[in-house]
Amino acid sequence: MAERSKADRKASGNGKVKVAAVGDLHVQEDAQTSYRDLFGEVSREADILVLTGDLTNLGKPKEAELLAEDLRACSIPVVAVLGNHDYESGCVDQIAATLRQAGVYLLDGQATELMDVGFVGVKGFVGGFGSRMLGSFGEPAIKAMVAESVNEAMRLENAMRQVRAKRTLVVLHYAPIPETVDGEPPEIFPFLGSSRLAETIDRFKVSAVVHGHAHRGSYEGQTPGGAKVYNVAMHITKPTGRPYALLEI
Ligand SMILES: [Fe+2]
Ligand SMILES: [Fe+2]
Repeated sequence: MAERSKADRKASGNGKVKVAAVGDLHVQEDAQTSYRDLFGEVSREADILVLTGDLTNLGKPKEAELLAEDLRACSIPVVAVLGNHDYESGCVDQIAATLRQAGVYLLDGQATELMDVGFVGVKGFVGGFGSRMLGSFGEPAIKAMVAESVNEAMRLENAMRQVRAKRTLVVLHYAPIPETVDGEPPEIFPFLGSSRLAETIDRFKVSAVVHGHAHRGSYEGQTPGGAKVYNVAMHITKPTGRPYALLEI
């Protein structure tokens, strides 16, 4: 079957854009898992692929190269953010360059518009949820940690302000709400995300939010302001019955 043209894709689904979203691929150097078939499949099922971080397992340049090779099987645009695992080996610039060279719209505090949808991407950070969030008090190390969490929320806000499209998908690695990390041990909730992200999101009108990171969390939730949130980590059971979620934006 001939590949659908960009115009056809835009017209499909009553003018809505079909987004396939998956996170936590954790590509490893031994290349035991190939995502080629999965990328081929999403190219037939969706208009755009969104990857929500932890693209590599240990943040090694070779892992990013293997992912870039697999992404050749993907014939639709790819939007991504990085995750904490992508930082592990201190090679984040190299990883980002490899993915951008492969044509990935890698977002780190920016927005990009594709098919009339604004994609806003930031990794996010830890810190916890609601009134139990870690506060900026005490040792400089704690204050630095909270400052990083606040900084990621501010970068998300700046990126949101760049959006001109009427529909917006927010792409994160860390969770903005506790509902979608439910299923993980409660002791690690504060390391899975931060409500500061949800507070920022709720200052804007967004179509949906996707994130990963909480491999044992729950698929669906919403921010206090009512924005739909989906945990699309590949380990999470989804309505598609596949590792990726399909969202109409
Ligand atoms: Fe992960
Ligand atoms: Fe992660």
